[in-house]
Amino acid sequence: TVARFLRSLPDSTLPLAVRGYSWLPDRMSDVHGGGVLRTRVLGQPAIFLRGPEAVDFVYDEDHVVRREALPGPVLDTLFGRGAVHTLDGESHRVRKGIFLGLLMDERGVADLQGRVVAGWREWTARHSGEEVVLFDGVAEVLAAAVSEWAGLPCSDASAAGTARDCVAMVDGFATPGPRHFRARRARREQEASLLPVVEHARTGRPGLADGSAVAVLARHRDAAGLPLAPHTVAVEILNVVRPTVAIAWFVAFAAHALHRWPDQRIALLTDEDGSRARAFAHEVRRFYPFAPFVGGLAWRDAAWRGQRIKAGTMVLLDIFGHHRDPAQWDHPRRFDPDRFLREPGAVHRLIPQGGGDPATGHRCPGEDITVTVLAALSTELASLGHTVPHQDLRIPLSRVPTLPRSGMRIRLP
Ligand code: HEM
Repeated sequence: TVARFLRSLPDSTLPLAVRGYSWLPDRMSDVHGGGVLRTRVLGQPAIFLRGPEAVDFVYDEDHVVRREALPGPVLDTLFGRGAVHTLDGESHRVRKGIFLGLLMDERGVADLQGRVVAGWREWTARHSGEEVVLFDGVAEVLAAAVSEWAGLPCSDASAAGTARDCVAMVDGFATPGPRHFRARRARREQEASLLPVVEHARTGRPGLADGSAVAVLARHRDAAGLPLAPHTVAVEILNVVRPTVAIAWFVAFAAHALHRWPDQRIALLTDEDGSRARAFAHEVRRFYPFAPFVGGLAWRDAAWRGQRIKAGTMVLLDIFGHHRDPAQWDHPRRFDPDRFLREPGAVHRLIPQGGGDPATGHRCPGEDITVTVLAALSTELASLGHTVPHQDLRIPLSRVPTLPRSGMRIRLP
């Protein structure tokens, strides 16, 4: 009866909040042929699309724009007001250029990876013999590494606070109630604590590396020679730090996969050139649920596969369903990293961090970092020699974002 009641509602916000990742697949399968669902979200008309053509449609700025597309509750938790995610056209390209330069530079990515692995080894040694919650520990390791790398003043205590706040921002964006209010508070406090850091970077903080995210964002000048507003700099620094901490979700899933399919451990231990570790990281990003969908607003009347889409409609791309679509993946419910070795082109069908081209559209500029760090920590996990105590490893699909219920507890050697 609850299910029937939820289905009877004209607006999908509540069913989505209650059913999480499982809501859309059920509703999509209602529609003949699949791939389209019309509904309302937050009171607005919305259409959900799925499939490769849908990716092209959603990432075409001629159809879908971002301004005024992201709801306030998502901005005040996950992304921040004035973030790159909310920009279109030339202003997006200029701002995005800063991120591409910071995040897609090979040496910079390798530097961050080195810091993460060093922090991980130090953390596993410090807690040797203990039973720990992997998700919490990795979030702290990532927060410390990315804070230093980005040019933030950092101590153990501040890294723990940064990890807690970044996790809260991600954990609370898609839900009403206490988790959401924790997310809002975390963002407010992090933004406030970054304002003096921005000021200091502008007045010449000694020792701040020129190429670091803090220095580059704080000292950026636009075409008219104007700097970004200090609040915008704080928001964008968090758009580097927060999603790096969020890699902890994937690391917890990687540990889950290694536990469930022990052969994968052997594959990683015999990896000679890093290709298996990367394939494993890709499969973790495909198989486990994280970002449920992305999208924006149709800015003019358009049509997609004969479906009329009126200007002002929210157009959403089903990420979770895309990765389980049998039309695109052989045995999508099978955890099979080798699919990326058998067919190297398969990686181009992945959209866990958005689709299209990061240089021209909104696709995540942090994919190199994510894959590199996740592959490195998966390899570390494979050789760690930990045990997995009895615990609740179920991954509830009603919760967005989700995790193994236990947070993935492990006993360190
Ligand atoms: C955008 C997912 C890691 C920085 C995005 C988008 C998604 C996403 C779904 C939106 C794409 C769109 O709007 O079309 C993820 C996931 C990650 C991750 C699941 C793994 C934890 C990272 C990392 C960084 C980063 C490590 C930076 C170090 C960004 C930025 C954008 C973005 C700046 C905005 C791009 C734009 O609007 O042009 N990410 N991301 N992300 N991500 Fe990531």
